[in-house]
Amino acid sequence: MARLVTEWVKVTRDISIIARESGEVWFHAAGGTEENVDPFATLMTGVGSAGSTVGLLDGAINLGFAGIEKRLAHPDPTIAGYIVALAGAYHTSVDTPRNLRRAASRFNELGRPEVAAYLEERAREETGHDRLALKDLRALGVPGERLVANFIPEGIKPLCKRFDDLCVQDYPMGCIGYSYCLERIAALKQETDIKKVQAMCPGDVDSTRFLRSHSSLGSEAAHVEETIQFVASLPANDRIRVVQETYESALILAEGYNHELLKSEAEMLEELEQALGEALPYRHSSNALHGEKRGARPAA
Ligand SMILES: [Fe+2]
Ligand SMILES: [Fe+2]
Repeated sequence: MARLVTEWVKVTRDISIIARESGEVWFHAAGGTEENVDPFATLMTGVGSAGSTVGLLDGAINLGFAGIEKRLAHPDPTIAGYIVALAGAYHTSVDTPRNLRRAASRFNELGRPEVAAYLEERAREETGHDRLALKDLRALGVPGERLVANFIPEGIKPLCKRFDDLCVQDYPMGCIGYSYCLERIAALKQETDIKKVQAMCPGDVDSTRFLRSHSSLGSEAAHVEETIQFVASLPANDRIRVVQETYESALILAEGYNHELLKSEAEMLEELEQALGEALPYRHSSNALHGEKRGARPAA
């Protein structure tokens, strides 16, 4: 019987993630003893497998969020919070096709057409997603173009900068780790999450286009699956880079989301109204517009 693939990647000074093809994952504290050399101190060099690669990638996300777990905010959901999330969704989507194409052309120059082709395909798939967020904002009665021109949520800025920076690197492999991190988290959202947001939004308007598309119901689940297969097919040094960046992106994402979630509804409304230069048709959710029900925290 063929031996199961085992992969490992060191993601912090003293933690490596180890994953087997069978789906088992460990976090390994680095350091051997005098008698025993740490077998995971060296870089992996073997082939990947989908089962072990997904273990490494998801392990990296879990580890990235672990540090913030105790500080994680769990605010009541509000329309103001959803509008902020949609503005963030716009900003994390608007430059994605351009950035991915830039990275693709670099991989063409480097003689890696298979990586370039993968990134070009992703650029095509991601095209127009910023428009979904704008349509959702419009459906909520918010002038989306004006809002996003004047407002980028503070916690989202480092995330956008990270992706911009990764895509212009000489060897932009990390952009795959960043994308995986965002898409994997989006794909965790279920139909019930979307229904809760719909219930919070006024009337019959469709304001969950972006959320649906970036959830288990939309294309995100397929994107995640394709990325796992692709990363598993890469040489070991590339898989290491992707997993390390998935961890770094998860740290930035966890801090950024939390920064936004810690804001009060009044602070969010104030920020939004300042950016728009006009009052929003939404007041505090204690007297929500049209008396809608409130649902679970929407995170676009
Ligand atoms: Fe997208
Ligand atoms: Fe996607």
